[in-house]
Amino acid sequence: MNEVIRCIKVRRSCRSFSDEPLKQNELEMIIEAGLWAPSGNNKQPWYFTVIRNKNTIEKINEDAKTNALKYLTDPKRLSIAKNKDFDLFYEAPCLVIVSADMKSGTAVADCSAAIQNMLLAAESLQIGSLWNGIIRRFWFETPGVEKFKTIYSIPEEYTPLFAVVFGYSSKNTSKGPERRLNTVNYYN
Ligand SMILES: Cc1cc2nc3c(=O)[nH]c(=O)nc-3n(C[C@H](O)[C@H](O)[C@H](O)COP(=O)(O)O)c2cc1C
Repeated sequence: MNEVIRCIKVRRSCRSFSDEPLKQNELEMIIEAGLWAPSGNNKQPWYFTVIRNKNTIEKINEDAKTNALKYLTDPKRLSIAKNKDFDLFYEAPCLVIVSADMKSGTAVADCSAAIQNMLLAAESLQIGSLWNGIIRRFWFETPGVEKFKTIYSIPEEYTPLFAVVFGYSSKNTSKGPERRLNTVNYYN
């Protein structure tokens, strides 16, 4: 099978990582794949913050839950935030925060394209990945985001959108959830 199609189909969200840090050259290939994503009017409105220190990643996990308890009201989300054992990042050794310059009208789509490029690049290198959206609710969409930006040196003009984690998978990948049927119409 064509390698790109194979990666698209076998990539799965990884939620179990080995401790092994990512090799620098592999990490750079993943990040570069993100930078080569298409973007509306070629604005390239993304900003990546790469964090490889496990203590820092763990601190972001804890602080995100603390921030959620401060600002959220939804009982389901609060119960997740209260769960001491829940790790947003599943102990992955590398976390990338994807921020966007929201002056571009296509910033979220562009950053999402960059993320998908990174997930596929990781898959091609046999590296597991997970796109994390919970941090948006827990932290980035709350007033606490300003503190986050200051601590992690995110430039003023950028808004943190998502987190993505990478690492070597410590489990065999599953088949993944079935894809919904009847979502395509070849209209004649
Ligand atoms: C925008 C977005 C946000 C997501 N947020 C999370 C998340 O916070 N935590 C998580 O475990 N998975 C998250 N996922 C992964 C999805 O749960 C996963 O992609 C979906 O169940 C399909 O499984 P697959 O990735 O193995 O094909 C997210 C995926 C996307 C695209």
